[in-house]
Amino acid sequence: MDRRYVPEPYKIKVVEPIAVTTRDERDRFIAEAGYNTFLLRSDQCTIDLLTDSGTTAMSDNQWAGMMLGDEAYAGSRNFLHLQEVVRTYYGFRHIVPTHQGRGAENLLSMIMIKPGDYVPGNMYFTTTRAHQERNGATFVDVIVDEAHDPQIELPFKGNIDLAKLERLIAEVGAGRIPYLCLAVTVNLAGGQPVSMANMRAVYRLCAAHGIKVMYDATRCIENAYFIKMREEGYAEASIAAILKEMMSYADGCTMSGKKDCLVNIGGFLCMNDDDLYQKASELVVLFEGMPSYGGLAGRDMEAMARGIVESVDYNYVHHRVTQCRYLADRLDEAGIPVVKPTGGHAVFIDAKAFLPHIPQDRFPAQTLAAELYVEAGVRAMERGIVSAGRNRETGDHHRPKLELVRLTIPRRVYTYAHLDTVAEACIALHRRRDTIRGLEMVYEPKVLRFFTARFQPLAGPTKVKARPTAQLVELAG
Ligand code: F0G
Repeated sequence: MDRRYVPEPYKIKVVEPIAVTTRDERDRFIAEAGYNTFLLRSDQCTIDLLTDSGTTAMSDNQWAGMMLGDEAYAGSRNFLHLQEVVRTYYGFRHIVPTHQGRGAENLLSMIMIKPGDYVPGNMYFTTTRAHQERNGATFVDVIVDEAHDPQIELPFKGNIDLAKLERLIAEVGAGRIPYLCLAVTVNLAGGQPVSMANMRAVYRLCAAHGIKVMYDATRCIENAYFIKMREEGYAEASIAAILKEMMSYADGCTMSGKKDCLVNIGGFLCMNDDDLYQKASELVVLFEGMPSYGGLAGRDMEAMARGIVESVDYNYVHHRVTQCRYLADRLDEAGIPVVKPTGGHAVFIDAKAFLPHIPQDRFPAQTLAAELYVEAGVRAMERGIVSAGRNRETGDHHRPKLELVRLTIPRRVYTYAHLDTVAEACIALHRRRDTIRGLEMVYEPKVLRFFTARFQPLAGPTKVKARPTAQLVELAG
C-alpha cells in the first residue's frame, strides 16, 4: 500500500458480516425503496456510506464504560464524568445532554430565537435550519462564495465572509440577530473547515455588536486537524489545544455526539451564560429528560465521555481524514469530478458534472446515488436539490449550486479494501454515465423531504423543459 496513506491505528476485535447481493436483487430493492437510499434496509447494503452519524465503531474502552452505566434518574455519575470531560476539552461551563444533535438545536432555537429574527451561518444544515425556521427565524448564508464552487481549492472553504455578515448586520440590525451559527466543519460544502483566524475575527465582530456565536461543533475534531495541517502557527499544537482555542471563540455550541464524539447516540448543548443555561435546563425536561441525562442512558453518557477523550488523539483523526483523501484520490485519478479539497468526513461527487445531461429538476444526485447502489450495493446520500427542500414563501425548490452525492466514511469501520470497492463501482458508473437517466418525485413530504421522498425513473430519455417563449425572445434579442 502507498505509504502516503497511514494504516489503521487499531486492530479488529469484533466483526459484523455484511450483505452480498446480486444485481437483480439490488434492482428490486431500490425500486421498492422508491429510488431513495434512505429507504433501503441496512441488510440490503454491502458498503454503507449513507452517513458518518452514529455509525462509528466504539473502542473496547468505550464498551467497557457501557458496563459502568449509572442509570439513576438524577445525578448519574456518568453525567458528572461527561460534564468534567466536556469542561476539560471544550471549555464551556454548562452542558445539557440531549439525545442527539437536533435535540440541542431544538433547545437552542427555542430559547434564543424570536419570530422575525435572522440567523446567519456558514451554509445551512438541514435539521439546524429547520429548527431555526420553525421558531420564526430566517436563515442567512454568509459563507465565502468559493464554498459554492466544487472545483476551487482553498484550505478553509468553510470560512465566513465578514463583509456579508457586516452587510446583514447593517441591513437588519444586530437586535434581530440573536446568534450566529458557525459550523465546524461545513457538512454540505463538502466537509470544509473554518480557519482559527476566521473564528477569531467572527467572534470579535459579533461581540462588538452584542451577537452571540454558537458553534455547530459536530465535526470540530476534523476541523481542528485541518487547522493543524494547514494553518500557520499550529503545526506543533495538539488537537486538544487547537480544539480548546477554537471553542474559546464561541459562547456555546450544539453537538451531535454521533460524529466526533465517537458514539452511536448522544449529543449536547453547551454555553457559558448562566441565564441561558437556566432556560435550557427548564426546557430540556420537556423534550429530552432531566438536565443530568437529557434523553440518554447513563451508559451512553459514559461512552460519549470516553469517546471525547479518544477523539483528540492525533493518530485517530489523522487516519480518519486520510481515508477520505484515499477514496477521493482514487476517484480523481479516474477523472471523476469530486469536491475539492477533500473534507474531513466524506467524499462528495459533483453530480452536475458527472451527469451534465440531467437537469437539476430531474435530481441528478438522487439518480446517481440510486445507480451506485444498483452497481455495487454501495449506499450513498443525495446532498443537492432534494435535501435543500422548498422555499417557504414561493413554494419552489431551493436550487443549491452544489448538487452532490456524499460518500460518507463511518469512523473506524471500513478498511482501504472496502474503499477500493467503492472507487471501482464509481469508475464503472462513470464509464456508462451516458446511459443514466433522471428521476421524477412521486411522493414529497412537507418537512425534511429527503428522508422519505419517493421517486421513479423517467420513462423516456431526459428532456430539458422548453424555455417559455418570452425568454426565448429575450435571448434572441
Ligand atoms: N449538524 C451537522 C453539521 C450535522 O451533520 C448533523 C447531522 C446535525 C447537525 C444533526 O445531528 O443527526 O445528531 O441530530 N448530520 C447527519 C448526516 C444526519 O448524515 O450528515 P443529529
